[in-house]
Amino acid sequence: MNHKGHFMLTHAITADPVVEFAADVRAGLTRNGQKELLSKYLYDDVGSALFEVISVLPQYGLTRADERLLRRHADEIANQVPGPVAVAELGSGSGKKTRWLLKAFCRRQHISYFPIEISPTALAMCERELGDIESMSIVGFEREYLDGLVEVAARRRPGQNLLVLFLGSTIGNFDRPAGAKFLRQVRAILQPGDSLLLGTDLEKPIPQLIAAYDDPLGVTAAFNLNLLARINRELDGEFVLDRFEHLARFNPEERSVEMHLRSRCDQTVRIHRADLTVRFREGETIWTESSHKYCSNELFEMANAAGFFCKAQWVDHEWSFAENLFVAQTLG
Ligand SMILES: C[S@@+](CC[C@H](N)C(=O)[O-])C[C@H]1O[C@@H](n2cnc3c(N)ncnc32)[C@H](O)[C@@H]1O
Repeated sequence: MNHKGHFMLTHAITADPVVEFAADVRAGLTRNGQKELLSKYLYDDVGSALFEVISVLPQYGLTRADERLLRRHADEIANQVPGPVAVAELGSGSGKKTRWLLKAFCRRQHISYFPIEISPTALAMCERELGDIESMSIVGFEREYLDGLVEVAARRRPGQNLLVLFLGSTIGNFDRPAGAKFLRQVRAILQPGDSLLLGTDLEKPIPQLIAAYDDPLGVTAAFNLNLLARINRELDGEFVLDRFEHLARFNPEERSVEMHLRSRCDQTVRIHRADLTVRFREGETIWTESSHKYCSNELFEMANAAGFFCKAQWVDHEWSFAENLFVAQTLG
């Protein structure tokens, strides 16, 4: 119980996370061609704290746009999701902007809220941030998105509608085919009539996009470089951080902003707990994250292709961003 007497519990990941991290680092850095590290590893406690700073940077308008839409349209969104509701949030982060929506539901009736996060730090922030909302119970799941959602779906009570939140354009971290597959997997866990509120960053001028991922203060650079620091901490790696630099570039075919870490020189790095020695050529990069951008019409097609129907869309025009309400259709 928390101080307000609300039920609050965290389910932790059970598999050995260090072994899995080592295996993924090994696979990503020994690939033929472009070296890669999975973006989910950006979010350890330092990374999650840095992401919070990114979300208030003047150049990163994305979080503010998402928050404006949720604040302005909270009642309207809640009214589109009828009956008793359980809310699951994929990759909740600190959950700050979710408050508007949760409060709109709580004005109607008691709800259950299930943040699903791989970052224990983000999950703890979220529980602190939202634990004071009256008429709401929080149960946090320290899980990968789909594993967490399966568990939440198993807990739904008869007659309860499930609303899944996937905000902050985190869907954009998947490439388009993987994003489409992910939406189908989410749909398969849901029942007809359940909803998914999907936050998506829309296309905008390239200089504006690059500035959002390469800020002059260097916070995004620190967020990116922290992945190497994390490997040093958790896998006994020997990365010298100032031998790498942050790089953000637009990929026009993919319509995405890519983040890379570029080697400033020819070098060899040992990562003891992954039993790995990696060579980098000067200028070679490690691809760490992509953020795909969308056009508003494309979202309707994405909904249909995954077994949803896009019932409503709200667009912020100050920073092009769309909140899309997908409703699960009966699967044929
Ligand atoms: C881009 S941040 C967005 C946070 C928040 N939803 C927002 O809109 O500001 C992505 C969040 O998803 C979490 N995350 C990343 N990959 C995940 C995965 N595979 N399963 C669960 N959570 C994940 C990260 O820890 C991080 O907090």
